[in-house]
Amino acid sequence: MPSLENLIQKMTLAEKAALCTGASAWTTTRIERLGIPELLVSDGPHGVRRVADVDSMGNQGLPATCFPTASCLAATWDTALIDRLGKALAEECIALNVDVLLGPGANMKRTPLGGRNFEYFSEDPYLAGEMAASFINGVQSKGVGTSLKHFAANNQETERMSISAEIDERTLREIYLAAFETAVKKAQPWTVMCAYNKLNGTYCSEHHQLLVDLLKKEWGFEGFVVSDWGAVHERVASLQGGLDLEMPGPRQSRVQSVIAAVQTGHLDESVLDEAVARILKIVFQAAETPKGGEFDQAAHHALARRIASEGMVLLKNNGILPLKDQQQIAVIGRAAQAAHFQGGGSSHINPTQVDNPFEELQKLARGAELHFAEGYPADDTFNQELIDEAVKIAQSAAVALIYLALPGYKESEGYDRPDLDLTQQQIALIQAVCAVQPNTVVILNNGAPVVMSAWIDNVAAVLEAWMMGQAGGGAIADILYGKVNPSGKLAETFPLKLEDTPAFINFPGGHGSVRYGEGLFIGYRYYDIKQMPVLFPFGYGLSYTSFLYSNLSVSHQTFRDVDGLTISVDITNTGKVAGSEIVQCYVHDQQSSLIRPDKELKGFAKVSLQPGETKTVSISLDFRAFAYFHPAYGQWITESGQFDVMVGASSTDIRCVETVTLESTLELPSLLDRDSTLRAWMEDPRGQQVIAPLMQQFVAQMQAQSADGEKAQEIDQEMMGYMLEMQLKDLLHFQEGFLPAPPEAVVDGLLAQVHGTTE
Ligand code: BGC
Repeated sequence: MPSLENLIQKMTLAEKAALCTGASAWTTTRIERLGIPELLVSDGPHGVRRVADVDSMGNQGLPATCFPTASCLAATWDTALIDRLGKALAEECIALNVDVLLGPGANMKRTPLGGRNFEYFSEDPYLAGEMAASFINGVQSKGVGTSLKHFAANNQETERMSISAEIDERTLREIYLAAFETAVKKAQPWTVMCAYNKLNGTYCSEHHQLLVDLLKKEWGFEGFVVSDWGAVHERVASLQGGLDLEMPGPRQSRVQSVIAAVQTGHLDESVLDEAVARILKIVFQAAETPKGGEFDQAAHHALARRIASEGMVLLKNNGILPLKDQQQIAVIGRAAQAAHFQGGGSSHINPTQVDNPFEELQKLARGAELHFAEGYPADDTFNQELIDEAVKIAQSAAVALIYLALPGYKESEGYDRPDLDLTQQQIALIQAVCAVQPNTVVILNNGAPVVMSAWIDNVAAVLEAWMMGQAGGGAIADILYGKVNPSGKLAETFPLKLEDTPAFINFPGGHGSVRYGEGLFIGYRYYDIKQMPVLFPFGYGLSYTSFLYSNLSVSHQTFRDVDGLTISVDITNTGKVAGSEIVQCYVHDQQSSLIRPDKELKGFAKVSLQPGETKTVSISLDFRAFAYFHPAYGQWITESGQFDVMVGASSTDIRCVETVTLESTLELPSLLDRDSTLRAWMEDPRGQQVIAPLMQQFVAQMQAQSADGEKAQEIDQEMMGYMLEMQLKDLLHFQEGFLPAPPEAVVDGLLAQVHGTTE
């Protein structure tokens, strides 16, 4: 890599400005005179969408493996597998001459209505952060970059390029930024893509606090920030806000505006130089990885199948699965012949091949006879004939398998979902088939939860197969026939109905703003605290075997926050087939100054076990596992006290609990100020000491001043309650007479003692 400092010195102002805006839809500006190559980026996230003509935004890319989308990836809870996925994606980038893959997406699933939820991992920031970090580390280990997106709070498609997400600081830190923070700190993505939306009134593309203060300074992000495609509104303001590269290009007027701003003194050239340095660093880093060659299509297809089968979640099973030797099988639903394996929008991959679910089933069905009926039409019309045909084949079969895909008009990038329902025809189809066939299995292809109360009780089994990638058809067959024992668990709650969801009354906002009124309480954090029943909880998924949890132990009963803790637990496969269990560790703070969720995921592990086998699983919990973000201190804090460490098979299936005692090592500054109440003074250890003499005097004074002079007035509970809520300075006004100075000055003197600015 050349010396960037020297290089920047040699660059003209025009060259620097040009480098900070794309040269085409997918490339940066090449500066031949100085040997600066171009950088080529491509979507992302679950496959490489390498558009052959870099001047075209067009949807169709060169053939590449379409892996399952993020909903399915997260449901694997398998960081090693996601790392492998990343490596495979990097191999395809290399073969397709791509320097940076535009992914992964680490936004939270605030509501299941979010149109792009299929591209995002989870409703939980810990899980999403771990997934994103593994993805990035996998890709970048092969010398290909990533773009962690969409930073930040990109949680809806309604008014997606203009809406302002109104979020309080604590919620931002603990929920909406936390996965990004983990990914940046653990994996250092080469680039971060800013979101289209505004955050608390400022476009993310111009958000200095977000892009500079937090991302670059506090978290130590070393790469460059790229705009989402078309997210820049004012180029100079965005540079000042920390946005290094505007995409797509070319945008000659933008380049000119930067040149003019420097020349007129409106933009400090050092700001431009920093953006240039960040971009150049990645451009040269990328150039070190030789491109070209081929990738192993068959191996990647096999990996896509493996990932899909690990991510699919068995939601219900009355014992019908795995299929045994049923001879007559009714296969119903268009999705059995036309696999629904990805979502619409910028992530749309041109697959190298696509498994046909029906044919894959046939391969494993040994001599069984498979009958097919379409079940529902491609469009949104209602067709009774298709239902009648399906019923006919279902009633004479031993089992009916209904393959249902949520149509594109109900779920895609570009718009939010209208509801959580399957189509009217799909619901009627399930009901009609179940009426004649008790052994009905529903297989779902969708990127986010659907509600099921209209039919779930009547079906024998449900398999959530997600947007399953190009090899998903084979993965479904693997699970239905028990070639793979399902182990996927939900990375998001399936609610009973839309009205139950946390953001229901605050979504999607309008007229330019959406208020995140539910605060910290999204996903299971909300259902937990409200004690609400759900259809399927976060972390839930069935297996063909069963697991016993025992011997939960903790490394220390009492520990210092900075030392953290390790827990271990024995998991035994108590069933008859091999299987994998996803073990989840949640932390519950028994007492805290500010409200906290009932429990939060802070660790997990996936363990594979033969029948009868036991393995010990260990999970480390660090400072952050016990901390929360306190807005008044402006930092992550721990509070001494007792915490429950809860280990379980899902967020609502806790199998063992240990209580531990944390000793906080933090020395926090006092939050007392001129407006603090007497209660705040009494609760502050230093404050209490400092005001003790004054309060003694104050009380004595009050008691002495009995109105009629008969009996000293007692300060009863009611009076005390009243006093405690008053600001100290206002309270002192009642007894100004005995004070050496005006109340405000007295309080200022006390504050100086508390904050250590005086003796
Ligand atoms: C999407 C990004 C994508 C970019 C380039 C935007 O519309 O929001 O996720 O990477 O287009 O296709």
